[in-house]
Amino acid sequence: MKFFDNRMMCLLITFFAGCGDTQQNTQVPFKNTLSMHEMMTWYLEPAADVIWDSAGFVITESGEVDLQPTTQEGWDNVRNNATVVAEAGNLLMMPGLAVDAVDWQDYSVGLIDAAVNARQAAMNKDADALFEAGGQIYNVCRACHNRYMMDSSD
Ligand code: HEC
Repeated sequence: MKFFDNRMMCLLITFFAGCGDTQQNTQVPFKNTLSMHEMMTWYLEPAADVIWDSAGFVITESGEVDLQPTTQEGWDNVRNNATVVAEAGNLLMMPGLAVDAVDWQDYSVGLIDAAVNARQAAMNKDADALFEAGGQIYNVCRACHNRYMMDSSD
């Protein structure tokens, strides 16, 4: 039984980390080019802004303006930027940007899910669904900032 336990343990370890040297150097290569601040302000926020600027209504001097795209190119642009937001969730989980493997991952996956909803809404040209997904994205941004931007009060 002891022998069996050890074998089982080795199998488990092999599965997760490699038992012996056959699993060495199988880590996927990547190269970070952004600090967290740059990631947020150069990559994620500009893409999210395209979504938010394409959903809902604004009141102007000449009345209420519907922000939803009016052309195929406009909807495609929202689809493309929703894709950037979704993939930003994956980038945030990479070593170098990931802060921890607990709540941080939940927020990052939440960002992916919300952005995929926005992308689908853009592909369906569904303004209501896009507005809802935009709100969902905003809530994830805020939730992660509340949890991880310690000095947001100053
Ligand atoms: C997984 C966590 C997480 C998510 C999700 C997230 N952020 Fe951030 N964000 C951070 C952290 C941590 C910082 C602080 C890093 C810094 O600025 O140095 C930050 C900082 C920022 C900043 C800079 C703020 C400042 O005053 O310096 C902006 C802008 C920003 N985020 C936008 C967004 C937007 C827009 C979204 C959603 C589309 C978003 N973030 C989602 C973690 C997150």
